[in-house]
Amino acid sequence: MKFKIMVEKKYKFQTIGQAFKNISDIFKNGGIINSEREAEILLSYFLEMNRSEIYLNSNRILKDIEKKQLEEKIQKRINKIPLQYITKHQEFMGMDFLIESGVLIPRPETEILVEEAIKKIKNYKYSDNIKVADLGTGAGVIAISIANFINNITVYATDISKKSLQIALKNAQKHDCKDKIIFLQGDLFEPFKNKIEKLSLEAIISNPPYIDSCDFESLPPEVRDNEPRIALFGGIDGLDYYRKIIRKSPQYLKKKGFLALEVGAGQARKVKELILKENNFTQDIEIIKDYLGIERVVIAYRK
Ligand SMILES: C[S@@+](CC[C@H](N)C(=O)[O-])C[C@H]1O[C@@H](n2cnc3c(N)ncnc32)[C@H](O)[C@@H]1O
Repeated sequence: MKFKIMVEKKYKFQTIGQAFKNISDIFKNGGIINSEREAEILLSYFLEMNRSEIYLNSNRILKDIEKKQLEEKIQKRINKIPLQYITKHQEFMGMDFLIESGVLIPRPETEILVEEAIKKIKNYKYSDNIKVADLGTGAGVIAISIANFINNITVYATDISKKSLQIALKNAQKHDCKDKIIFLQGDLFEPFKNKIEKLSLEAIISNPPYIDSCDFESLPPEVRDNEPRIALFGGIDGLDYYRKIIRKSPQYLKKKGFLALEVGAGQARKVKELILKENNFTQDIEIIKDYLGIERVVIAYRK
């Protein structure tokens, strides 16, 4: 059962500076780890001011309507709604992305997957018109980052969730790369039929759902009660999507094309084993760690 925690219904702030202090305290007491940073982001978004403007305007008195609206947002955050679903924004690869409830909030570690994929695509200089796929595109951050950093590329971005594809399309429009991305709705490779030729892709990139379904209860409430389950869980051992992707991707990858997968903590070696069992990949499988030293990305090459 979900309990709602109510913040005291009495404004303790009149000015922007007081609001910052008060929200930081409410967040801290509500168990939010980066309480000051989140208070700053919430105020910046709400007042449409950047960080320095918040401090420069700290003596500005807030109107009653502003205080009321702000209190509603504080209340949502205290009830563990992720900040990104309140502000509808998340930064990724230095770009600002629209995020809405029903769509996975992109994580900073996914930037490792994107950086590696971009490096490989650029270094390998496969052809003049590179074609790659992003399976389970969510808000479109992987597909859009790749489309933005590489010329002459077509990215096929798939997702089973209509809502995710709607948000991903808006993000592609916002970042002016709609013409480089083809969005397809369906189950993993199913929408490839009649759209993508066999053995035609330079790369398949994916950050699939990989949480072990037994870990449900131990997830933070922000994730467990708010993020879409279809974006989180990868079956009993968390590896269901990897099995399907590894089995099917050789049908679509060109010779020497690569498969790049984000994996959860402790999954890299198991995913490597799955790849080694699939005959169509070479034995030189790369594992890349994230900034915390966790093995986060697995890359394999088609024979
Ligand atoms: C972990 S999220 C990754 C989202 C985004 N690529 C990112 O890195 O932020 C996994 C995504 O896969 C999608 N998904 C889940 N099952 C799928 C399936 N069978 N076929 C295609 N997409 C699927 C979810 O809707 C979700 O958007």
